[in-house]
Amino acid sequence: MHKLTIDDLELRGKRAFVRVDFNVPLSAEGKVEDDTRIAASLPTLRKILLAGGSAVVASHLGRPKAKREEKYSLKPVADKLRELTGWPVKFVPDCIGLEVEAAAQALKSGEILLLDNVRFYPGEEANDPAFAAQFAKLADYYINDAFGSAHRAHASTHAVAGHFPGRAAAGYLMEKELAYLGRALANPQRPFVAVIGGAKISTKIDVLRNLLKMVDLLLIGGAMTYTFEKAKGGKIGKSLCEEDKIDAAKEILALPETGKLRLPVDSLTALNPDAVCESEVAGQKIKHICWRIRLSNAIPDDEIGFDIGPEAVSDFTKAIAGAKTIVWNGPLGMFEKDLFAGGTKAVARALADLTAAGGITVVGGGDSVAALEKFGLSDKMSHISTGGGASLEFLEGKVLPGVAALTDK
Ligand code: 3PG
Repeated sequence: MHKLTIDDLELRGKRAFVRVDFNVPLSAEGKVEDDTRIAASLPTLRKILLAGGSAVVASHLGRPKAKREEKYSLKPVADKLRELTGWPVKFVPDCIGLEVEAAAQALKSGEILLLDNVRFYPGEEANDPAFAAQFAKLADYYINDAFGSAHRAHASTHAVAGHFPGRAAAGYLMEKELAYLGRALANPQRPFVAVIGGAKISTKIDVLRNLLKMVDLLLIGGAMTYTFEKAKGGKIGKSLCEEDKIDAAKEILALPETGKLRLPVDSLTALNPDAVCESEVAGQKIKHICWRIRLSNAIPDDEIGFDIGPEAVSDFTKAIAGAKTIVWNGPLGMFEKDLFAGGTKAVARALADLTAAGGITVVGGGDSVAALEKFGLSDKMSHISTGGGASLEFLEGKVLPGVAALTDK
């Protein structure tokens, strides 16, 4: 790690301003529905408290329109943090100002103060240094543990670091994310295979370009398959296709590394996502489930590809079994429907087996993480990234502003 980390700080008797990513889903009743991101911040917070320091914790939640909106308050997150840890977690319904400063100053060693949503002010997304300066009044150190927000150049992830010269460090979660993703890309054990799925090629073009330079094999799945197939002149029926990205797909297919790219040879297709079709039996119309296995480049006009087919499953899982490092982002099919979850499940299982056999498996992206949860395989990966957009930008090879702003070692 070429950046200062929490382990480099003398925390006893000091306050740390810790930017976490507590952008968690809340139910209609305002309860935290998934505490993964909260749990992921605990090693950093625990370290501060055990070292005799205190933590002023800040995050965004959702996308409020630069003003207070109660449904985006972090209050339920404070309750969850208290419930998860039993720690003395205080909460102030603001993130800057006199009340916040007084609460920060009153913090004793071993205590946590959670501030309210930093996006309640326009200065946050504007990366306003004057707004960020208000955070700097609250603490001796800045610690960024919000990997999921590291691709945002916002006041609490970027400008704030400038107010802590020589004292802006990465937390443990940030360090772990950068270690796994960084090692996978910069120094992978080979064969290095990437599995990229999802509906749209538009959000992944730069990821594909960047990964093609590094991997030994790039497996493509999900509906983006059909934009590629159409670009190659295949018949894709009514499958999802981003017409305006066909040229981009052609460019990728023309890259010198294109030989490393593999599309699913076959697909599961149906007339609609529920795979319902109507037949006439003895003069009666009946509805039933029907789907087909088709070559991905020869799909009849009225059919839609919803998952990779059996030959592709066999091809992809063999490639995964022969790899030493895998990066996976994006489902291979419409896994929310059990009928079309098979490809994604087979790939997830192959990754789990590879982890068990000593391979490195790194998974990012909300949908792939949701798929792992659905299949009960979340604990079978080497690393699951807490950052959706951030992990994608990392895979694109971009410098993340929240990391760049930290103090160099
Ligand atoms: C995320 O959930 O990906 C991060 O918290 C960033 O949220 P944002 O896309 O609203 O900036």
